[in-house]
Amino acid sequence: MTEVVYRAPAKVNLGLRCSSRRPDGYHNLITVFMAVALADTLTCTPLAGRVEVDVSGEGANLIPTDGSDLTGRAATLLRDRFGDPGMGARLVVDKAIPVAGGMAGGSADAAAALRACNDLWDLGVSEPDLMNLAADLGADVPFALLGGVALGVGRGDVLTPQPVRGTYHWVFALARHGLSTPEVFAKYDEMSHGDHDAAELDDLIEVLTSGDASLLGAQLINDLTPAAVTLRPEIGETLAFGAALPGVVGSVLSGSGPTCAFLCDTEKAADNAAARLPELPQVASTRVADGPVGGAGHRSRD
Ligand code: C5P
Repeated sequence: MTEVVYRAPAKVNLGLRCSSRRPDGYHNLITVFMAVALADTLTCTPLAGRVEVDVSGEGANLIPTDGSDLTGRAATLLRDRFGDPGMGARLVVDKAIPVAGGMAGGSADAAAALRACNDLWDLGVSEPDLMNLAADLGADVPFALLGGVALGVGRGDVLTPQPVRGTYHWVFALARHGLSTPEVFAKYDEMSHGDHDAAELDDLIEVLTSGDASLLGAQLINDLTPAAVTLRPEIGETLAFGAALPGVVGSVLSGSGPTCAFLCDTEKAADNAAARLPELPQVASTRVADGPVGGAGHRSRD
């Protein structure tokens, strides 16, 4: 194969319930992910014996291009476990997902790189083996491969796909500066006292089959919100402003933030909310995207 082009969709956590830090530094989570049609594009071509990454688009300058980023590491890990040292690839990422935005853009690119290099190098690595490599790369990478809607437990990487009806219309308010995920989790530890279990998300999972955006909107929840708002108070303003816009039926911090996600009852309401949110100085831009869509390398609706 001479060139593989794959889409790498972002995710939003519809619900994220967090418990205390584990000995390995991660937190046990109960989360429900949805993959959305806001995607980076990965173009992968063969290169003898080495992995090279080239990133373009917004925030590209924040990503190292020496192969040490998650995308390069994904390709190298696949080659080391299943290929041979002569294999290499040039991975060109065109970013649309905000960098350090809480939408797992880096994980999406890594998942796309696993699939793309598997095809490019004709390795025939199975889906379960790709999932294991994904989990070694990071907590969000397995879901990025899977896509759709899934319940995640453990670090968020032990996944069960969930049935879902309908298409949901989202607006994402992008911040001017990213937030560090480890910093948000550290602030969460500081603010939450004692050991506690993550609450279940059964009600959220149940309304997913209703196809009713307002029922889902009422169930959106993210335990990392107080920590992110403490680090960036304007996130609280963005969430409140967006929630009050016409046709917005739910609002939630996306992952560890700072991106804020707004669920709308129609596509038109999403377009209107996307036009209004940049009235806030902290909102750099907005993106409208439907979900759910398939994972990295699968066809998506748009
Ligand atoms: O796995 P990944 O590199 O995406 O995680 C980034 C960081 O986010 C971890 O090093 C950890 O600080 C935090 N994290 C966590 N618990 C999770 C997922 C991520 O504490 N379940």
